[in-house]
Amino acid sequence: MKDVHSYWAYLVLAILIFTVVNAIIGLTQKKEFKDKDLRLGLFTLIVSHIQLLIGLAWYFMSPWYKALKADAGAVMGEKTTRLLAVEHPIIMVLAIVLITIGWSKHKKKTTDTAKYKTFAIFYGIALLLILSRIPWNNWL
Ligand code: HEM
Ligand code: HEM
Repeated sequence: MKDVHSYWAYLVLAILIFTVVNAIIGLTQKKEFKDKDLRLGLFTLIVSHIQLLIGLAWYFMSPWYKALKADAGAVMGEKTTRLLAVEHPIIMVLAIVLITIGWSKHKKKTTDTAKYKTFAIFYGIALLLILSRIPWNNWL
């Protein structure tokens, strides 16, 4: 489960970065919001929802969750364990919530600019949150 989560993360990051860049380009160059732009947003939503599921599944069977239950003080007091047991899971859930809100909101927008803008803001902030709380030292 941990390995699947670790490899799936490449896909999440790649597609999310692509969608955010695509939205910023669409917004600044005032492009028409096409079917492919909608599919990109939807694909990113699905890929990140799957990562959410894998992440939650791994979290509750991981040593980090057990350690947190056994001695929260010790886990919180140590930077590396706090990142894995608390910061990463909470911030990632928050980021995926933002992606989901962004997806829902873009559907209600009627202009191309507003659709791109919604993606740029919600998916963009999600990307920044994700980049800030990936355990880089363990991963690459
Ligand atoms: C813990 C697991 C999951 C949670 C909590 C979750 C939560 C949500 C929520 C709240 C929405 C509503 C968005 C809206 O208002 O339109 C949604 C939509 C969606 N989710 Fe998930 N999801 C999870 C797992 C998955 C998985 C595993 C997949 C794909 C295999 C997936 C695919 C989708 C799709 C396709 C949509 C709707 C897109 C549309 O609006 O057409 N989700 N999810
Ligand atoms: C956008 C969503 C997410 C991304 C991109 C992501 C990415 C990653 C990456 C790159 C790692 C390091 C893997 C390694 O050590 O090889 C990791 C570890 C981890 N992730 Fe996530 N993650 C996401 C969401 C979540 C969620 C929602 C949870 C749980 C609620 C979660 C729980 C964990 C845990 C517990 C680890 C520690 C693995 C270990 O060393 O035992 N992740 N994640």
